[in-house]
Amino acid sequence: MIQLLIIGIVFLLGVFMVVVCVILSSPKCTSKVCLVGKTALVTGGSSGIGYQTVLGLAARGCRVIVADQNVDEKIQRSLIKESNNPNIIMQYVDLASFESVRELARRLTASEDKLDILINNAGIGKGPDKLSKDDLDDTWQINYFSAFLLTHLLIGLLKKSSAGRVIFTSSLLSHVHQLSSENITATEIKSSEYFLSYSDTKVALIIASDIFATKLNKFNITSNVYHPGIANTAIFERSMRNMEGIGEKALVFVLRLLLFFLNKTPEDGAQTALHLAVSREVENITGRYFGRLSETWKPRICKDKILCEKIWTTSETIVKLESNERL
Ligand SMILES: NC(=O)c1ccc[n+]([C@@H]2O[C@H](COP(=O)([O-])OP(=O)(O)OC[C@H]3O[C@@H](n4cnc5c(N)ncnc54)[C@H](OP(=O)(O)O)[C@@H]3O)[C@@H](O)[C@H]2O)c1
Repeated sequence: MIQLLIIGIVFLLGVFMVVVCVILSSPKCTSKVCLVGKTALVTGGSSGIGYQTVLGLAARGCRVIVADQNVDEKIQRSLIKESNNPNIIMQYVDLASFESVRELARRLTASEDKLDILINNAGIGKGPDKLSKDDLDDTWQINYFSAFLLTHLLIGLLKKSSAGRVIFTSSLLSHVHQLSSENITATEIKSSEYFLSYSDTKVALIIASDIFATKLNKFNITSNVYHPGIANTAIFERSMRNMEGIGEKALVFVLRLLLFFLNKTPEDGAQTALHLAVSREVENITGRYFGRLSETWKPRICKDKILCEKIWTTSETIVKLESNERL
């Protein structure tokens, strides 16, 4: 009996150790593919995970356009110096404004022959509860609607690539969303204030990525979405400044603890985006959700085709797509 108990305890400890090792390990994108001749666009590439994604692409010879609201020359110089690749271009965009997104797309359509990789990385955790220039909740607009709009506006350039890849950035928090057919109306999205609107935007990105995957298949463009796990970036500090109330403060405490124990860097967080952007093994993979370089499961809501279709059509209306821009 005691022997059995000891075997049981040892077994449980073993399982626990394996789980801890898996959580603490950071798989790296080891693809050696050369990206000379390819052009990528990374939104939010001036800091955090986006910055590291730009470096990973540039180090492989890719021409990289960084689209961010911070286009400081110092960032460009630092990216060029670290990667030894002079082909890094900074482009201003304010993702809290649809006009700014359209302006960026116009500039890129005029300056670029093609786009091979589009990484919709930029995002915020919790904004200051103010409406954007387009009268929308800023978390929704920056994280989701602007990525939805930008991807539509860049399809023309992506089609000119021999095999375009679109990548969206979700989060593990996509699994604790509150999205439903009742709150996906334009009015509800506008008035969304609670922290969990972040999770809602992140599940909406998975849904949009899946539908893009289906609609873009005929153009040989893939669309996948990933979560970076948890990486110590400025997003937490910025979000925490806008958090109030006991629930949000408790969340801040848990996040700080996690960040301390996991000790993951922005470079760790960028690995799955790089894997999806460059690796040969995902060349023809589309419509999937990734984490830690492997396919992972999607929130159940992604199987609700009627709701997903509703989110897509509501999004088309909210970002004011012209009929010739719709897919
Ligand atoms: N870090 C994590 O653990 C984690 C976990 C899950 C998901 N993610 C996701 O990963 C992505 C990158 O986040 P991060 O952790 O690297 O955060 P970050 O360091 O704060 O980077 C976000 C980037 O987005 C840019 N950005 C924010 N608002 C913008 C706007 N209105 N217009 C243009 N650019 C804007 C920021 O520019 P400024 O610096 O000028 O504000 C910054 O360069 C986000 O989508 C985030 O939701 C991160």
